[in-house]
Amino acid sequence: MDSKISQREQWTSKLGFILAAVGSAVGLGNLWGFAYRASQGGGAAFVLLYVLIVLIVCLPVFVAELALGKNAMASSLLAPVKLGGTNWSPLGVLFFLAPIGILSYYSVIMGWAADTFFHSLLFGLPKDLSEAKEFFGSVSSGSSVLLGHSLSLVLTALIVSSGVKRGIEKITKSFMPILFIILFMLTIWAGSLSGAWEGYQTFLFKFDFDQLKNPTTIRNAFSQAFFSLSLGIGIMVAYGSYLSKKSNLPKLSFGVASLDTLVGLMAGLITFPIFLTFGLSDSISDSTIGALFISIPTGLGSAGILGRIVAIAFFGLVYIAAITSSVSLLEVPVSSLMDKFRFDRNKSVWLVAIFVFILGIPSALDTNTLGTFDSVCNILLIFGGFLVTFFMGWVVPKKLDSEIDVSKVGVKTARYLKFMTKWICPPLIAFGFLISLFDLLKGWLS
Ligand code: TRP
Repeated sequence: MDSKISQREQWTSKLGFILAAVGSAVGLGNLWGFAYRASQGGGAAFVLLYVLIVLIVCLPVFVAELALGKNAMASSLLAPVKLGGTNWSPLGVLFFLAPIGILSYYSVIMGWAADTFFHSLLFGLPKDLSEAKEFFGSVSSGSSVLLGHSLSLVLTALIVSSGVKRGIEKITKSFMPILFIILFMLTIWAGSLSGAWEGYQTFLFKFDFDQLKNPTTIRNAFSQAFFSLSLGIGIMVAYGSYLSKKSNLPKLSFGVASLDTLVGLMAGLITFPIFLTFGLSDSISDSTIGALFISIPTGLGSAGILGRIVAIAFFGLVYIAAITSSVSLLEVPVSSLMDKFRFDRNKSVWLVAIFVFILGIPSALDTNTLGTFDSVCNILLIFGGFLVTFFMGWVVPKKLDSEIDVSKVGVKTARYLKFMTKWICPPLIAFGFLISLFDLLKGWLS
């Protein structure tokens, strides 16, 4: 047997995989990203498009990525080459570089979250909006942001260096239940606010059908769906490669995607009542990137000691969600280096972490740069999603077939998934990609 295959770690159980994959999916995207994109004017149309994209487009992409990793039993860098030949090495390179790009600013936002958490815990919340903006300004610049960025990376690196089972799986197993409990409690609390109903309506029912045609809303919905599910850049390829032979990929994908979308919607059910109860709707749309870090402390700041406790719980939640995602972002390049150059885990982890730290400095020093990084990486995710479905649907369709076990999923589901991967996903994602690219370039040129 190939020694590399026999050395490959495996998840200890199905639950271990699901929690790790949900841990990767549920993160800043659901909390910070959702609030930030939903506040850019798309309203309920954005939410609807996002959910549709998850159901129609992202589920087959999810299965395709897992199938690619599980079939190749290789890291994301090497898997496309192993199945499709050297012509496909650029896809492996995309899988290697894009997570590094995302992690470089992801850990900066983790730093903001940690700062806000400690500030709420030790000093309390801002008195009003201007104080909150000032506070966000101090969190997102200067030496404290570099400290947050580096500490978050070190923490992520320590977990990843312990390995798949002892690091990633263990941390997600203990953190995910805590996350769900905090999320649940916050959702109930937000539902008791005076502006709760108005918040739900704005978020879920205020349709402006013209928004469905707005390129920015379309870009936001595609970005949100891919980013939130950790799709398009090989995360699920890596996680799939640690699955056992018997796994039922469609069922796992469906489970992870539903949980992630549920968390995204719950985050909306928390943030929107807060925005509307404390009259923050206008302030969020003009400070998009910092929306979460400005409006939540402002809103809760006017709710006394209970508000402060909720803020501590909320930013603790943000950080827990983020760390189980950042480990997945680091795992992909790390396992690729291990596979390709036979580096040991520790060496790969610290090499990548140092590189990511340096790459993240511009984002740490300037929130606009961070926004640009985020937009570019999101376009890469969509492009990656296109390539993955094209690859599995057209280049190596037999491999996809062999990973969708008809005896487990039934003939209809198997047929549906293969059809979608081949005929529906590539053109739909290509459409989403072109609109997003056009919208991004338009924004830059204007
Ligand atoms: N999905 C995570 C979130 O919502 C972030 C993330 C982790 C990610 N791994 C990814 C995004 C891979 C894109 C690709 O915060």
